[in-house]
Amino acid sequence: MRLQREAEGGFIRYYKETERAIRGPRKNPPPKPAQEAEKTVEEELLAHLAPLIEDHFLTDVVRPIKSGKEAVVYCCRADASLGRDLVAAKVYRPLETRSFKRDAVYQQGRERGSRPDARVLRALGKKTQHGQAHKFSAWIAHEMKTLEILHAAGADVPEPIERNGPVILMEYFGDIDNPAPVLLGVDLDPGEAAPLYAGILRNVELFLVHHRVHADLSAYNMLYWNGAVTIIDFPQSVDPRYNDDAFDLLVRDLRTVNGFFAAAGADIVDPTEHALRLWRTHVDPRR
Ligand SMILES: Nc1ncnc2c1ncn2[C@@H]1O[C@H](COP(=O)(O)OP(=O)(O)OP(=O)(O)O)[C@@H](O)[C@H]1O
Ligand SMILES: [Mg+2]
Repeated sequence: MRLQREAEGGFIRYYKETERAIRGPRKNPPPKPAQEAEKTVEEELLAHLAPLIEDHFLTDVVRPIKSGKEAVVYCCRADASLGRDLVAAKVYRPLETRSFKRDAVYQQGRERGSRPDARVLRALGKKTQHGQAHKFSAWIAHEMKTLEILHAAGADVPEPIERNGPVILMEYFGDIDNPAPVLLGVDLDPGEAAPLYAGILRNVELFLVHHRVHADLSAYNMLYWNGAVTIIDFPQSVDPRYNDDAFDLLVRDLRTVNGFFAAAGADIVDPTEHALRLWRTHVDPRR
């Protein structure tokens, strides 16, 4: 209970801060309570899971699985209503500790799909807090949307369950003691690499059919569980119809995946030729 109460406080403060970033500073900010203890970043992130406990998606946080640059992912116990035991909660780090330096390539062309109003478009082009707050929210929404589209299409990605602020709740891979390892550390059996590689190529093609290039595809962003591979981590994915770098990103994705599977003993495709073939079939026959 204590954790939950503390968590609620952190959650509310976080949203006030984000709202302030969007609406601009308040004229007469109220004084901060002197006794309010400083929280660590980890406590702040954990706090974002409280509303999901209140809303009966989760009952408990089992443990953090991994603390990355962009987010911390937690293994959580699911509420019985979800019809599963465990879920993964990806909690994005707050605005001020994140960098959007590598963001420009991935954001380009995104506004064409969603048509935000002129104010939002101006903000997206700026380095102001207002612009950054919109980017933060758009980045998370884009990962959620991408998971929804690709999962519905039958791709090997986690099933998205819910998004709440900086949290994406999704299907968990692993068991209570062992989260699924990323593919990079896995020694595949002989004979396992070729069918898994073929499965990845099928997914890359399915992504393209549904207007997505992953754009950070590698054995780091693949989970290996029960002999199958699941592809994760989509906030930077781009739309090949609108993003001028999408073809190069597709080639880069294929080249990176090839590196892992060639070492594991699979016969690999030529990345540029394969990308061209997919592109001409699904994006633009004149390329
Ligand atoms: N659905 C899931 N089930 C089990 N583990 C997961 C799941 N999603 C993510 N993880 C774990 O959390 C890690 C980070 O997830 P993800 O790549 O989405 O976030 P990230 O912030 O981009 O991390 P990184 O900086 O390491 O790339 C993964 O490498 C994996 O270990
Ligand atoms: Mg990742």
